[in-house]
Amino acid sequence: MTGSKADFPLLLNEDYIYFDNAATSMRPKEVTDAITAFYEEMNANPMRGLYEWSINATEAYEGARKKVARFIGAKSASEIVFTRNSTESLNLVAYSYGRAFVNEGDEIVVSVSEHHSNILPWQMVAREKKAKLVWLECDENGAYSDEELESKIGPKTKVVAIAHVSNVLGQPKDLKKIAALAHSFGAVIVADGAQAAPHMAVDVQDLDVDFYVFSGHKMLGPMGIGVLYAKKALLEKMPPFLTGGEMIEYVTREDATFAEVPHKFEAGTVNAAGAVGLGAAIDYLNVLGFDAVRHREEKITALLMEEMAKIPHVTVYGDKDPAKHCGIVTFNIDGCHPHDVASILDADHICIRAGHHCAQPLMQYMKVNSTCRASVYFYNTENEVMRFVQSLARVREELGYGS
Ligand code: ALA
Repeated sequence: MTGSKADFPLLLNEDYIYFDNAATSMRPKEVTDAITAFYEEMNANPMRGLYEWSINATEAYEGARKKVARFIGAKSASEIVFTRNSTESLNLVAYSYGRAFVNEGDEIVVSVSEHHSNILPWQMVAREKKAKLVWLECDENGAYSDEELESKIGPKTKVVAIAHVSNVLGQPKDLKKIAALAHSFGAVIVADGAQAAPHMAVDVQDLDVDFYVFSGHKMLGPMGIGVLYAKKALLEKMPPFLTGGEMIEYVTREDATFAEVPHKFEAGTVNAAGAVGLGAAIDYLNVLGFDAVRHREEKITALLMEEMAKIPHVTVYGDKDPAKHCGIVTFNIDGCHPHDVASILDADHICIRAGHHCAQPLMQYMKVNSTCRASVYFYNTENEVMRFVQSLARVREELGYGS
């Protein structure tokens, strides 16, 4: 474990520059080794078998749950539900908590900078329960003022759905303050931590959020494993989301009672190898430490923004302060479609994302159809930034514009 590109097999090919970390991060060998070890050394279905391999698989899976609980400061491992990803975690909250506890006339407050995964489930609840979606409007940096929060969160609010960090603008939110405001009206806060958990130490008890979700694959873990943190009292009163194997206590022909939390929310064979891989990713991040993660990524982001500012016709969106970007730099080039920009960079083996980033209400607010997005992580380097800006500076010329 070096904390550098050397830990990531795919990055050993120096021809490629990977600046799409907000979509998914690279995985270090420690993570893929842990997944292989799970399949080569135990492989059995956890929680079902009474033989050694299954018992070991159960211990590995539940051990990963304990690591996740410690990683985000949960009170106990029973507050951690494994899902496929943040999207599934948010759907779980909406389908279970939302449908059970939101009623006609209630308000669900959603921020305009949300990823679609924290919008669509709430649109579904609002439609079904005849509740109202109330939109929090951000400023050009993606920040929410106290006045805006106080004017939208009120006595009718039942749920506040907000990303800890926007996947387009970065910009961390003061979740502690928003949670306190939501709680003062008896509402719950559902925080999407997909773009935050990879970049900063999160303490769910200190933030006092009711629900916090994130994905393994954006923080060095494997794809297909996600986390829902929820306060235990909430999980206990919520109905199951998916039903079937292993989430029951007792089943008759007519009815069923359900397992204790968190197992009530984990129907079917679980992604045990994915959880173990996520555990290995957490071990890696714990050794590196979030001070180092933030320091490196702020340095790279600052250089990136500084160099991009020197290129004519490039507009970078969001806060001027690189520390508020969490590694995300969203931009456009005058007269160039983001897909053209991404394709030209791809010819130089540079990977960025171009499109609406599953955040169309934010695109509408920004008055653009789409943008380019370069997103860095702690293993990216100054040299990569310089190669990226050289390629970026040639884009307009490639598309036939003069200087
Ligand atoms: N939600 C991921 C992104 O922002 C995929 O790119």
